Amino acid sequence: MSQVIPATLIAGDGIGPEIVDATLAVLDALKAPFEWDRQVAGLAGVQQSGDPLPKATLDSIRRTRLALKGPLETPSGGGYRSSNVRLREEFQLYANLRPAHTIIPGGRFDNIDLMVVRENLEGLYIGHEHYVPIDNDPHAVAMATGINTRQGCRRLLEFAFDTAVATGRKKVTIVHKANIMKALTGIFLETGLDLYERKYKGKFQLDSVIVDACAMKLVLNPWQFDMLVTTNLFGDILSDLVAGLVGGLGMAPGANIGAEAAIFEAVHGSAPDIAGKGIANPTALLLAAALMLDHCKLADQAARLRKAIDEALNIDKVRTGDLGGSAGTAAYTQALVSRIANG
Ligand code: NAI
Repeated sequence: MSQVIPATLIAGDGIGPEIVDATLAVLDALKAPFEWDRQVAGLAGVQQSGDPLPKATLDSIRRTRLALKGPLETPSGGGYRSSNVRLREEFQLYANLRPAHTIIPGGRFDNIDLMVVRENLEGLYIGHEHYVPIDNDPHAVAMATGINTRQGCRRLLEFAFDTAVATGRKKVTIVHKANIMKALTGIFLETGLDLYERKYKGKFQLDSVIVDACAMKLVLNPWQFDMLVTTNLFGDILSDLVAGLVGGLGMAPGANIGAEAAIFEAVHGSAPDIAGKGIANPTALLLAAALMLDHCKLADQAARLRKAIDEALNIDKVRTGDLGGSAGTAAYTQALVSRIANG
């Protein structure tokens, strides 16, 4: 019997508890060896302990160094700071991994298999922003500072290049805007080219593209790319674009990897409009669980999980409403469990 792996479980807000229950049922069917420590965050954290990221939750992740989380609600404008951003900072989750893989054929783009690796902590997202008031206008001038460090670029690029080698990617493309933001994104490009020459040459092909051209190329011919690696803001935008190529956020998993922990999640939010109705699609969180199994070197269980999703959607044709089907979360979960039991 395989060893038990302690992991933190955050059910999250809105549809979070529904898609987490579905994911746990499927992981149970797979006999995945996780020993869950259930904690709260987001709105549930505020309601239960007055804090969107309670100390007990942080302590749990510090202990397990591994978490699966449902979506967390963040109020727009005022209110509390995003728990997702705080988790990234707290555990130095510097790499965001977003694979995009066509599961249901016949969409606008078939046979997509693309990985986006985004720097998660630096760049224009560090939040150093302010206004300069002039005369009667308190917002007359807006300023933002971006910071990219050599060390931050290097650890992210190293992670991306190692992942490319480990997963057999043939080509890695560095996405930048070094023609305009010569220092801020030039340092990322320069560090990547240098690292490749010194450590990775011959292991895969490396090229680079300017972010605006990349967006156009992704829509015209996404198959020309294999792995994209880029800075925080560009990665945020391009990873959603890439999710759109394979049917939208409902099918998009994400992994946040750092030196001190790894946190796996669906890319979509808490979907308050459909919460509690039993119709949410748990596929994105299930695919995040597959990434978590990969991370724990349980590749066989990850492969069985992905196969069950493919078969339930494409052979049994059990699909939730967002995919044009009529199944509820429970019926889809049951189809997955049956596929695993008979697989
Ligand atoms: P959302 O992703 O929650 O919803 C957008 C639309 O997609 C809605 O119509 C929703 O019903 C649908 N949808 C999303 N996931 C679905 C699923 N699994 N199955 C079926 N339909 C699904 O985005 P929204 O409404 O902008 O955000 C709601 C809340 O989620 C906000 O408080 C936001 O801050 C939070 N959020 C949290 C994230 C996280 O924890 N990683 C990521 C994005 C948003």
